[in-house]
Amino acid sequence: MTFAPFVDWGKFLPNPATQAAQKVKIELEDGSIANVNTFEVNSSQVVIYPKTDDEVLNQEAFRTWQLIRLPAELGGNRNDASAFRLYSMVCLHLWCLWKYWPQEGRKRGECPCHGSMYDPYTGKAFAGPAALQGPPSNVLPRLDIEVESNGDLSILPPVWSPDRNGVVGFGRYLNNNNT
Ligand code: FES
Repeated sequence: MTFAPFVDWGKFLPNPATQAAQKVKIELEDGSIANVNTFEVNSSQVVIYPKTDDEVLNQEAFRTWQLIRLPAELGGNRNDASAFRLYSMVCLHLWCLWKYWPQEGRKRGECPCHGSMYDPYTGKAFAGPAALQGPPSNVLPRLDIEVESNGDLSILPPVWSPDRNGVVGFGRYLNNNNT
């Protein structure tokens, strides 16, 4: 018989305590709302989620996400949610903040601390120390996105568990589509 303890990861790690019960529009750094018609292919921006009224809380690494519109060869020129990814920027190795680099020959997430690299399509680490960690600690948590009728992007309410949206700083299991 196997022993399978129930671990409530959402409480164990410092994930945002405030559960958003409703979807929220994705606010960009300049205060505008991300829109499928204007967000450039092969580009990224920092998104704070869940956002609070407290500017200090909003600077927490665990609320820091990277919105990526994929490069065209990975489907970034589609006009729907599949063109986008929204990953936790907390590196799964030792919690530095990684970011997306769109330059030719890179087009990947890179962590400045010890060189972990992340595949923008799946969020899976493919190089560096994070790539040596076992599942789920080799795949970035990911928020689900919906495109509204006017093109605005929204974040659907997450479930902070490794087999759903993942646990910030801990990881996520890939789903059946390998994403
Ligand atoms: S913290 Fe990112 S590679 Fe070590």
